[in-house]
Amino acid sequence: MDDPRFLVLYGVLAVIAFATFRKALRDPKARLISQVDTIPIVGSSGFLSSYRNAFAFLANASTLIQQGYDEHHQGVFRVARLFRWEYVVCGPKLVKEVGAAPEHILSFRAGLQEIIPTRLVIGAAISDNPYHHRTIRTSLTRNLHACFPDVRDEIICAFNDVLRVESSEWKTLPVLPIIMAVVARVSNRIFVGLPLCRNKTYLQNNVQFTLDVVRSSQRIVLFPKFLQPFVASLITNRNKSFATAVKLLGPTIEDRLSKEREMGPDWPGKPNDFISWLLETAEGEERTAPALVLRILNTNFAAIHTSSMAFTHALFDLATHPEHLLPMREEVECVVKEEGWSKAALNSMVKVDSFLRLNNGGASVMHRKVVAKEGFQFSDGTILPHGALMYVASRATHYDEANFENPAKFDGFRFAQERQRRRCCFTDVISTAVDHLPFGTGKHACPGRFFAATELKAMLAHLVLNYDIKAEVEGVRPPDAVFGVRITPNPTGKVCFRKRMD
Ligand code: HEM
Ligand SMILES: *[C@@H]1O[C@H](CO)[C@@H](O)[C@H](O)[C@H]1NC(C)=O
Ligand SMILES: *[C@@H]1O[C@H](CO)[C@@H](O)[C@H](O)[C@H]1NC(C)=O
Ligand SMILES: *[C@@H]1O[C@H](CO)[C@@H](O)[C@H](O)[C@H]1NC(C)=O
Repeated sequence: MDDPRFLVLYGVLAVIAFATFRKALRDPKARLISQVDTIPIVGSSGFLSSYRNAFAFLANASTLIQQGYDEHHQGVFRVARLFRWEYVVCGPKLVKEVGAAPEHILSFRAGLQEIIPTRLVIGAAISDNPYHHRTIRTSLTRNLHACFPDVRDEIICAFNDVLRVESSEWKTLPVLPIIMAVVARVSNRIFVGLPLCRNKTYLQNNVQFTLDVVRSSQRIVLFPKFLQPFVASLITNRNKSFATAVKLLGPTIEDRLSKEREMGPDWPGKPNDFISWLLETAEGEERTAPALVLRILNTNFAAIHTSSMAFTHALFDLATHPEHLLPMREEVECVVKEEGWSKAALNSMVKVDSFLRLNNGGASVMHRKVVAKEGFQFSDGTILPHGALMYVASRATHYDEANFENPAKFDGFRFAQERQRRRCCFTDVISTAVDHLPFGTGKHACPGRFFAATELKAMLAHLVLNYDIKAEVEGVRPPDAVFGVRITPNPTGKVCFRKRMD
């Protein structure tokens, strides 16, 4: 919200919206209204105040959703946004119903367009034909074991390069940019392989693209649909990032395509990486260098943003609660001594796993749009009309005393202890339970979570084993950045690192 031109434009629209939305709300004959009439409103529904609320939502969505969750923790409530109502779903039973609903009733794709207008900020092909989801879910996940030595190697080199702590002196560094660089590099070791995964221009382009997608999406979605293409054309750098990606990655892909034409799909020496896996599934017009570059650019976006946010949260937590460092170091040392470094060994690092589960994501998850003409009916009788936008109150669920003991208290190993108590049926960082929602639950639960968990656990294990970490100011966690339902770690927050002493 820092660009004044953007604020002016948005202000003008707000006035138009104010008139139209209020009119619709007051028209007793409107179908929309009669169906949703009984769904409770959280925040004010008064004439002027709900208008103000729609703005306050941007600064304060999490508080509002928490308030709604406290009042309706087994139901649905709605909040007023500038151009529409949004419906918030709470409680295990209803959350499960959202996760199980088919695409032609509750649409994941249409819901995503409301937070990341993929067609405008990435490319229409990505949402029209998301075949890469299958590649991520199957090939990437299946190859994690085989690719682990590469992941490990890249983590070591990447942290050496970005931290550059040669002596045992403390060094204070901004966390988010460092982690984005490491995540981009480690992910691209598997996506495109050496040497491109270490090419600074290539990596920076992926990181910049990721930041641009998030930043421009946040703004574009505040506008009504018909204006979005216009707003997008003013504020996205999508074409520039795409052109750079084509220039740097295009030749590698051309080379793979031509080798395949010459020698068939299983040519000798074919690298075991994401490009090869994509080529196994891509069909027709998707089998061109630009189309494949777009897939990989998009996969970079999906992987870099989410994983860097999660890991940066974890590092701020660790610096603020440094008593967790030594127990994790001991655990990693012990596991590595017995099992060496492998994907399987990560499964034994229960403290590392638990620690990564604590600070997971924003106020909402599982955004869906009702696309069924007749609307969507929950088992409790609540009906959401055609076109309604809904999501699940994830943060409030993760802080619900009914689900977790003393949830507000920071206890990095709470899930490790739970795992010891319930040996048969523990959950871990990749669980998609109705009370553990960082990756959603049900049909669309994140297909990249196995890769993300492997990467993040290996990164944290490496850091605690080799570095001491402390807060810039003891006990102070850099405040999160909040925009609407998003809660992201402080983009300029710093942490101190030094080479492990002993
Ligand atoms: C800590 C890291 C990550 C988090 C917290 C995360 C979270 C999520 C969430 C919440 C969803 C939507 C679930 C829903 O609406 O039901 C999702 C979907 C998705 N994620 Fe992730 N994700 C992460 C890492 C990754 C990575 C590394 C990749 C790719 C390699 C990836 C690829 C995807 C894709 C393709 C979808 C769409 C799924 C579909 O359409 O069914 N994610 N992720
Ligand atoms: C957010 O909401 C809470 C409770 O409704 C209120 O106390 C607080 O001042 C609000 N903050 C902002 C920035 O609007
Ligand atoms: C990145 O790769 C491109 C294309 O191969 C090359 O021209 C450029 O010099 C590389 N940049 C760096 C920093 O390695
Ligand atoms: C980006 O490229 C597409 C075609 O590939 C074009 O239609 C669009 O106008 C371009 N956008 C901008 C902002 O230049």
